[in-house]
Amino acid sequence: MSALINTDISHACQLLKAGKLVAIPTETVYGLAANALDPDAVIRIFETKNRPSFDPLIVHIASTDDVAKYVQEVPPAARKLMEAFWPGPLTIVLRKNDLIPDAVTSGLPTVGMRMPDHPLTLSLLREVQLPLAAPSANPFGYISPTRASHVADQLGESIELILDGGHSQIGVESTIIDCSGTKPVVLRLGGTSLESLQAVIGDVEVNTRGGSSPAAPGMLLSHYAPKKKLLLGNIHDLLHEHHENISILSFRDQYHSYRNIRLSASGDLHEAARNLFTALRVLDGETGDVILAEPVPDHGIGRAINDRLRRAAHR
Ligand code: TXA
Ligand code: MG
Repeated sequence: MSALINTDISHACQLLKAGKLVAIPTETVYGLAANALDPDAVIRIFETKNRPSFDPLIVHIASTDDVAKYVQEVPPAARKLMEAFWPGPLTIVLRKNDLIPDAVTSGLPTVGMRMPDHPLTLSLLREVQLPLAAPSANPFGYISPTRASHVADQLGESIELILDGGHSQIGVESTIIDCSGTKPVVLRLGGTSLESLQAVIGDVEVNTRGGSSPAAPGMLLSHYAPKKKLLLGNIHDLLHEHHENISILSFRDQYHSYRNIRLSASGDLHEAARNLFTALRVLDGETGDVILAEPVPDHGIGRAINDRLRRAAHR
């Protein structure tokens, strides 16, 4: 049976309360949600995504007031960040309390909390009155989904319902900041820019180094990856070196003699972020052996785009 794709929040509540999975839209990417308080439901997320058990899940809530229910304390920096950026693409890692099962956090003493900025999912969170654990709704390691159809293509046979909230408006995952220690550390670059974080809490350390057993679990070097080989660099240089059947993912320039998708003809980084994962999926689904891609300007949300491109290029 294939998943239903609609906006039926009551049906979603019913499934979630019964321990089942529902795909939900967010402003960043679509998530694969389950009741965060039900370890069996949470384990189903890992099984369905084929996700290794060491990679913890983010818990989604309906309001800033809900955070205190699930964590030991909310430090002042975390409070400021919530007030400035929620609802929005920022996940805050805090010391969890016993209500959050170990299955959610892969045994870590901390939990990532996020209030997403999507009307349908906020309504769902308010109605279901449960925190929802949700990773991106893609098979582990592949490109994150930014449309309901992306979820249907890959997980449509494994789940019953995909809530359709249209195209994710940010297009890259949330920024993750760890506020569980003595000073805040950014663990993943994402939809909330470093510059805007700095404006609220001053200088922040960034540690997004991956590896095969990363300090920030889940930040594996090879991630967000198409099945095809992706080469990242200056397009003109890459064109000199590569004569396979190629396609080009460029920022704003157009390459008429090649299969080419531009992320933003006007050079707008927000538009580029919004288009990134769809473009990668489209090129990955076509004929051709290699995708040539170029980095975008490395500021604002451009840093998150470059991070995803680097991970997509890593073999
Ligand atoms: O935008 C997003 O954050 C999306 C939407 C659905 O909310 N979710 C998402 O989840 O990107 P996922 O599972 O694909 O990535 C979550 C990452 C993990 O891989 C891990 O790196 C980090 O969040 N994470 C979660 N809990 C953590 C914790 N307690 N400590 C450190 N990192 C954590
Ligand atoms: Mg993911």
